[in-house]
Amino acid sequence: MPDLDTIVSLCKRRGFVFPGSEIYGGLANSWDYGPLGHLLKQNIKKAWWKFFVAERDDMVPLDSAIIMNPKIWEASGHLENFSDELVECKECHHRFRVDHLLEAKGITPKFDKEVVKKPVKLSCPDCDGALTEPKAFNLMFKTFLGTTEDNSTVAYLRPETAGGMFTNFKNIQNVTRRRLPFGIAQIGKCFRNEITPGNFIFRTREFEIGEFEYFINPKGWEKVFEMWLSEIKRWWKDIMQVNMDNLVWHEIPDSELAHYSKRTVDVEYKYPFGVKELHGIAYRTDFDLARHEKVSGQDLHYTDPETNEKFLPHVIEPTFGIDRMLLVALLEAYHEEEAPTAEEGETDKRVVMKFPKHLAPYQVAVLPLSKKEDLAKVSKPLATDLRKHFSVDYDETQSIGKRYRREDEIGTPYCVTVDFESLEDKKVTVRDRDTMKQDRVAIEELINYLKEKFI
Ligand code: GAP
Repeated sequence: MPDLDTIVSLCKRRGFVFPGSEIYGGLANSWDYGPLGHLLKQNIKKAWWKFFVAERDDMVPLDSAIIMNPKIWEASGHLENFSDELVECKECHHRFRVDHLLEAKGITPKFDKEVVKKPVKLSCPDCDGALTEPKAFNLMFKTFLGTTEDNSTVAYLRPETAGGMFTNFKNIQNVTRRRLPFGIAQIGKCFRNEITPGNFIFRTREFEIGEFEYFINPKGWEKVFEMWLSEIKRWWKDIMQVNMDNLVWHEIPDSELAHYSKRTVDVEYKYPFGVKELHGIAYRTDFDLARHEKVSGQDLHYTDPETNEKFLPHVIEPTFGIDRMLLVALLEAYHEEEAPTAEEGETDKRVVMKFPKHLAPYQVAVLPLSKKEDLAKVSKPLATDLRKHFSVDYDETQSIGKRYRREDEIGTPYCVTVDFESLEDKKVTVRDRDTMKQDRVAIEELINYLKEKFI
């Protein structure tokens, strides 16, 4: 596992992730996804959507608003409870989340607010100064609608996408005439005014969530939960192709469950900065629909067309941080290896990002051996053709050895080299990122040759 600084520096050097607002001195803990980061993120989102939504017959999509009626956050409990306990050092004035300070002492008060109040002796981790009494700090980003800034125009940027799925449950059930069980899924930006963002893109104030609410009859919820847990394992093993030893399946004990949840599993990852949450899956009973029914005054019950049983659907909610998945993809992909140089018998270190091929930002790189026009006459139209089928990088500067190293470092699975022989034999050299083996392939067979590699 590389350390985080190695990944942050590779990301900047190669254009995966840049520090936000950099030319103005930056904005702490904000990050911009560069060309490669954008492509990688798109590929992760596409794969997630295909696996959890598009390939299933029990899921429907949604794209709901980021700014919604504040009553939604009253119903969900975010206005009242979506807060972290904050303490400030009386000496250096640094601020900390109490649960983080407790965690450092081996106490995990995630769901049990009472633990926070227990008399654990805490002091400032930076200067050992005394800390203030804990104060609740709401994480919702507040804004105002229109031109008047008062209580009647207050609105919030959504802290999660779930609210839109609960409030559209009735609409979607009516228009799609879906029977239970079925799920509503969406991917979108969320905002939380985190007290202590950090660890690169692990905890930021603006991030993306992919999540779904799977509506069920509560009878037999245990089986449905198991089904999703095993699908999620398949996602990590087969699609994200992570080393499963790096995942920790943290079953939340009954004593720590949120009052409305009967089962929650936090999926954790062994990051270079410790074992921390990656994403989660929770059985939330009928808590959310019951709260929205109460606050909105609308009937959100479902009638089973076969049994005529009328009930409030219960919900199983798998939720994924897209940015954390991308961080895991970067950490898992990073490899340092000894590799041969152009000099006979010599080796040097190569950094190679061994992304699963379907997630790699570029699938193919076209590399004419030199900038000579003769070669460009072949390589440019070849790249144009390949772009119809693959995500393609084109690079004609520097030595071919340096260009291979660069493509290794950005994780391109196949490099296609056009050389002077190509002009005669109408063939190109295809180099495999992982094995570094080279094949000579006829140009007219290249698309099919590469397509087979991505099956
Ligand atoms: N609807 C449930 C929900 O929002 P959550 O655990 O609060 O659950 C979902 O958030 C996921 O979003 C987390 O598991 C994590 O992957 C990601 N996430 C949460 N806060 C984040 C932050 N500040 N920065 C980046 N990702 C975050």
